[in-house]
Formats: sequence, C-alpha cells, structure tokens
Amino acid sequence: MDQRFGPLYDAENPWGRDDGFFLAAVDETPAARVLDLGCGTGRLTLALAAAGHTVTGVDPHRASLDAARAKPGADRVTWIEGTSAVLPDAAYDVAVLTSHVVQEIRAEADWRRTLADLRRALVPGGRLVFDSRDPAARRWERWNARDSRRRIALPDGTVVQAWTELTEMRDDLVSFVHHYLLPDGDELRSPGTLRFRTEEELQAALGNAGFTVERIHGGWDREPVGASDDGELIVVARAGAAITPR
Ligand SMILES: C[S@@+](CC[C@H](N)C(=O)[O-])C[C@H]1O[C@@H](n2cnc3c(N)ncnc32)[C@H](O)[C@@H]1O
Repeated sequence: MDQRFGPLYDAENPWGRDDGFFLAAVDETPAARVLDLGCGTGRLTLALAAAGHTVTGVDPHRASLDAARAKPGADRVTWIEGTSAVLPDAAYDVAVLTSHVVQEIRAEADWRRTLADLRRALVPGGRLVFDSRDPAARRWERWNARDSRRRIALPDGTVVQAWTELTEMRDDLVSFVHHYLLPDGDELRSPGTLRFRTEEELQAALGNAGFTVERIHGGWDREPVGASDDGELIVVARAGAAITPR
C-alpha cells in the first residue's frame, strides 16, 4: 500500500454530517463503552474518545491504524488490528461501523460472522449503528470521470485531482477505481469492490443474528428511507438477549 494514501484519505474525508450523526447516536448512551469496527484512520474514533466515551478502534488495515495512532488524543483509544473475530464478549454498549465499512464485507459468510461477533461483543440491549448505501439510489451511476471529478487540497497546500471510475457490476457487487493525479504527475489508483444490500436484506441478516432493528433512516437528517438525496440506509439495531443452549 502506497504511504501517500493515508494523507489523501484524511484530506478527502474531513468531519462530515455522517460523523455528526454517529457521534449524536453514541451520545444517547452517556460514557458508553464504544466499539468502532473498521475505524480506519480514526477520525470518528478520536472524536468519540474526546467526547468522554471509552473507545476501542478495530481495523484489519495496519497502515490506517498506524496513522490513527499518530494523531493527537490517540492514547485515549484502545487500537486493535483485526476484524470482528478479535472482539471480547459482552464488552460494549454501542458498536458503530461508519463510512460504509459493512459494504466492504462482501462475502455473505463474512457478513454473517461479523454480525454474530458484534452480537456477542455487545451487552444485551446494546446498540449497533451503521451505514450502507441504498442500492435504490444507484449511486454508482455517478462514478464516472465527469460526475465524480474533485479537487483534494492537502495540508501542504498542494492540490490533487481525483475521480472515480466504475469498472464492473456483477449482481449486487460494484467495482470501481479511485484515481488520484498528484502534482508531480504521478497517478495513484485505489481499486475497490462494494456489496450493495437492500433494506430487506439488512433487516433479514440482522434478525437472523439476534438483533432487533429500531429504525432505518435514508439520510443524515433522519429522513425516511428513499426520501433523501443522501441515498443511505442508516441502521440502528439493538442486541437481543443472549441465546442460551438448553
Ligand atoms: C471507507 S473506510 C472507513 C474508515 C472509517 N470508519 C471512517 O469513517 O473513516 C473502510 C474501513 O473498513 C475496514 N475494513 C474492511 N474490511 C473490514 C472487516 N472485515 N472488518 C473490519 N473492518 C474492515 C478497512 O480496512 C477500512 O479502514
């Protein structure tokens, strides 16, 4: 992984309405034990800790965690390299997965496993909050060089030209490449594939894993599904009581 991606990610993803939503959602439980699964470079993780929560950030990508650990306030957070498999039992009041982490968990077996681990890691009645892009909004139709072109200003004052190109659509998997044209003429490419799950698919998977869905919003101002240009499925679910074998 090119070391230049870390600063690019942070410059392209400053604090946003989504972060405000997740912070407010977590704040509904004062002084919560919070898990940020797929915490990346720690933008929200650090803000949650600064707000007085006891926060654990987990991510399988070491370079992102290293970038997070180097930021001011990082010593207030417990950082763990890994996936949901590393989580302890009944340790968290709230778990968040933000900036569409769940769409990076593509294989159905991994998704089922992740939800089962989250159910296990939350206390009974604990909350799971995450975002997933609504396939009905067809966001990928804007992933072309014209509609997605953007300028990213880096902290050193240089500007990077970026655009996103759709490369493949297969079933509910959408593949793309982010292109970054650096001031020195170098071009970085960051490919990815995301799974788009419908509201019904999310509901079913959560129910099977022992969660009760409390609400699903379509946008960051808590609009109903389909009523916002944000095109999101923002899920708030609650962990049910543990299933005890007879
Ligand atoms: C788009 S980034 C979002 C990072 C961060 N949540 C944010 O808001 O900036 C997606 C993150 O999900 C992580 N990720 C991918 N697969 C994962 C998995 N199975 N479990 C946990 N995190 C995962 C990636 O390493 C990456 O840091």
